[in-house]
Amino acid sequence: MTEPLTPHELARQLIFLHDCGIEDVFFAEPLQGKAIDQKQLRQAILQADDSRLAGQRQESMPAGPQPEGRPASPRPAPPHSDAMPASKPAMTRETHQSADPSAHVHERSPRMSTADDLQSIVDIPTLIARIDATDGAGLKQFATQTVVADGNPASGIMIIGEAPGADEDQQGIPFIGQSGQLLMEAISFIGLDSREKYFISNSVFWRPPGNRTPSPAETQFCLPYLHRLIQLVDPKLVLILGGHAMKHLLQVSKGVSAMRGREIGLSAGDRVIPTIVSFHPSFLLRSPSNKKALWHDLLQFKASMAKHGVTP
Ligand code: URA
Repeated sequence: MTEPLTPHELARQLIFLHDCGIEDVFFAEPLQGKAIDQKQLRQAILQADDSRLAGQRQESMPAGPQPEGRPASPRPAPPHSDAMPASKPAMTRETHQSADPSAHVHERSPRMSTADDLQSIVDIPTLIARIDATDGAGLKQFATQTVVADGNPASGIMIIGEAPGADEDQQGIPFIGQSGQLLMEAISFIGLDSREKYFISNSVFWRPPGNRTPSPAETQFCLPYLHRLIQLVDPKLVLILGGHAMKHLLQVSKGVSAMRGREIGLSAGDRVIPTIVSFHPSFLLRSPSNKKALWHDLLQFKASMAKHGVTP
């Protein structure tokens, strides 16, 4: 038995479930006086929900395309002279000559890191070192550190978000801030309750100044590295969070609302990887009514896990 949930944790999880549209939770036995643990709660939810929600899938999906994107940071982008944190690792003049990100976009074409070049890299640590050695299309000079990935590359599951936020930038680990916490909470209900059970990354590896949406040039710069990362991880199943990563990875122009709810193929080398798309957790923090959609997508993802033989 896992550790019993504290009343605060239980309340938080029930509020989350309520936001997801789950109103009934049935336990096999009366709980009076008993501690509830995470596993028990998950089982009760999923038993009730698997059967009940299967028939309702369409009903509670949002009707039309939803506005998405990163919330603007409460802090404006720092001026260039303040943007370099004191603890920032030394950077060479050759690769970081200009403080103007647009200048780098022109100086360094994404073609300099072609998919062909990256094929010679055959392990993840070397790829990460190679990413860290770039200037990130000018983004790196504004970031505290390069944030590539976390978790278990052998898990069979890869989750891909947009770009690091402030907490991720400080700690160098993807999805550990507020939106990461929402995501962790949500995926724990489908058995993904530790980073040993999935591998997680982003479509951009540096925090954009002021938390703005990464520009197309910045995203295009990172894309060949992300594609190589996906090839090296070789997941059985991918979960893409948010329209930004979705549009660039799947080369589609539609919004998440139009693409979610079904498996889509993500081309990675000679493989097409089954992929589920859902809303980005930072969008859900701003628009909690869409948590229902995430819940449905996670049920779909769980079904895909069973279908493709991925056991958490
Ligand atoms: N949002 C993301 O897309 N990725 C992170 O790592 C954190 C927040």
